[in-house]
Amino acid sequence: MINKDEFVNELLGKMTLAEKIGQMSQFAGRGGIPHDLADDIRHGKVGSILNEVGVDLLNEIQRIAVEESRLGIPLIIGRDVIHGYQTVFPIPLGQAASWNPSIIREGARVAAVEAASDGVNWTFAPMIDVTRDARWGRIAESLGEDPYLASKLGVAMVEGFQGDDLSKEGHIAACAKHFAGYGYSEAGRDYAYVNISESELRNVAFPPFKACADAGVATFMSAFSDINGVPSTANDFLLRKVLRDEWNYKGFVVSDWDSVIQLITHGFAEHDREAAMHAANAGVDMEMASHTYLAHLEELIEEGKVNEEDINSSVKHILSVKYDLGLFEKPYTNASSFPEKGNNNHLAAAKEAAIQSCVLLKNDHQVLPLKKENLKNVAVIGPLADDKHEQMGTWVFDGKAEWCQTPLQAIRKELGDDVNIRYARGLETSRTKNRDGFAEALAIAAESETIIMFMGEESILSGEAHCRADIDLPGVQNELLEEISKLGKQTILVILAGRPLTLEQTQHYVNSMIFAWHPGTMGGPAISDILFGKVAPSGKLPVSFPRMVGQIPIYYNHRNSGKPATYETFTYIDHIPTRAGQTSTGNTSFHLDAGFEPLYPFGFGLTYTHFHYHHLRLSSHEMPVDGSIEVFAELTNSGSREAVEIAQLYIRDQVGSITRPVKELKGFQRVHLQPGETKTIVFHLKASDLAFYNRTMQHVVEPGHFDLWVGGSSNGDLHTNFTVR
Ligand code: GLC
Repeated sequence: MINKDEFVNELLGKMTLAEKIGQMSQFAGRGGIPHDLADDIRHGKVGSILNEVGVDLLNEIQRIAVEESRLGIPLIIGRDVIHGYQTVFPIPLGQAASWNPSIIREGARVAAVEAASDGVNWTFAPMIDVTRDARWGRIAESLGEDPYLASKLGVAMVEGFQGDDLSKEGHIAACAKHFAGYGYSEAGRDYAYVNISESELRNVAFPPFKACADAGVATFMSAFSDINGVPSTANDFLLRKVLRDEWNYKGFVVSDWDSVIQLITHGFAEHDREAAMHAANAGVDMEMASHTYLAHLEELIEEGKVNEEDINSSVKHILSVKYDLGLFEKPYTNASSFPEKGNNNHLAAAKEAAIQSCVLLKNDHQVLPLKKENLKNVAVIGPLADDKHEQMGTWVFDGKAEWCQTPLQAIRKELGDDVNIRYARGLETSRTKNRDGFAEALAIAAESETIIMFMGEESILSGEAHCRADIDLPGVQNELLEEISKLGKQTILVILAGRPLTLEQTQHYVNSMIFAWHPGTMGGPAISDILFGKVAPSGKLPVSFPRMVGQIPIYYNHRNSGKPATYETFTYIDHIPTRAGQTSTGNTSFHLDAGFEPLYPFGFGLTYTHFHYHHLRLSSHEMPVDGSIEVFAELTNSGSREAVEIAQLYIRDQVGSITRPVKELKGFQRVHLQPGETKTIVFHLKASDLAFYNRTMQHVVEPGHFDLWVGGSSNGDLHTNFTVR
């Protein structure tokens, strides 16, 4: 068996220039096999298709490529399998709230098996754009605001999709997207300009991509974004200098949908031909959906405007991934060798992911968990209590809504006939301003002792191109909550949404609040198990929750500024005396009407017991720039219920050659404790974990003094110091 490079080089040597350019062209599926697509495939003009599914259709398309084209090169077949295929898992931002790489890996593995059984062999995930802007609809697909967490969880997704051997059945190629900086879209408006420094790119946006590249992600996708005036899809700094020269990446880069031809719209290219030239020269190996490569690359090469050597590299990258996928040996899918989609194992994995993604934000007087024996009349109210479609969230092209089990169904199943359950939708949609449903909702609430509200966002309100400038609960949901709260009953709010919402007002209307994101197929049973205490919530926020949208961007790993706010130096707008002196309110960094902290910080999440961190100590308070230390702390479950805590490790580099964040996550682990149990938690901290890109873009560890925290959120429970010599 010749090796991959020999195979690829030998095949490349047989290819005409037209066939090479064909490999660099991805066609969008149009349902079925139109004659022109079949002919294009036969003539070697198609290297990939996306957005077709169905094993018979895809096997037939593949057969045309393999048996009816001159060289029989198989197609790589892409699909957005973002958080599940037919069995839908929580949206990625929700999965990130689990802080659990193994649960995320398992979700991606299940998604890969289901997608592969339908003939798909490439997914456009993980989306690892770090973002701090909840107005941006695509935060739903992201893994949150922190580069370290997004790196660990993004790698877990790659491992789940690709497995340990890409050629094995049920493994599909993954795609690190969108390279890079897309999460910094101005004003949280999708596709908007990105003004980002190289320092911010290297220290915040790049790490998850580097981690996925090092983990062997098969492909990258260039972003739609205009980065500092050079769109990502034409950005040789990103695609050649960083990705190839610095990271030595060997996979292939696909553009985003029409992002090559959009170079014209950006005002970066005058026409298709110039767009093709810029993208090819910048290092986009495969053009998605638009066909400027097919139309112009041959003449650009003849005119010396594009080097054939670069084309050969692109084709080698693509052929290598097809080789790794085993497509030359096994181009077809044998559906019968796969487990049934939506089988109990898949549903169980989806339920566990949904359970671990739920975050308990508020639980006054331990209203939760509800005790079945104490319940008589329960009112279930809200537009998201019983809506199979909405609970799946964004990016669910193939999700089976009919498989979804809703919260109402699960609550009815859990409480059986012992409890009188009344249900009212209350609002036709999450957006509606129509209050006609209030009366019915208030009536059943008046007849009940316990009220469980299911509110939030319909799935269409987040995801690509679905950005919001006001991130309160949409419509008149707060108004309904306010009316319900006047009844003075035990009220629990479960929020299903695709982004952090501003809950400053909402929180006052309820005793307890669970944030369930869009939890997917098994969202109902997962939420029910948490409501009734079958399992304690363990989720932690992967993103800060602002008090007000005007605080955005607000995130935990911010710079200190020269005048940081403290509660001593901050005066709330309502507390400012009349005729207050110009400098009397504290000249520090805050908003008069919102303060300087989020409503809920990164890493925050409550549970049904109390965790007590104590006895923090270090193996040493000093380490050399190439050394490491062990961090030890005791964690006690001092409450009465078993639960899981996600213990977190943060550091702060007090002085650097550039200013450093006031906190940086450098470790986390799940700790399961019985009531009264204590465990010693250990973190291994290497000096290299503290590295950053300095003013001259060198990746350095600088000696100096550091703060260190261990705790259950970015607020940090225990604190100590150490020094790097
Ligand atoms: C979309 C998205 C990208 C997706 C691609 C294919 O516009 O930006 O994330 O993978 O097109 O659907």
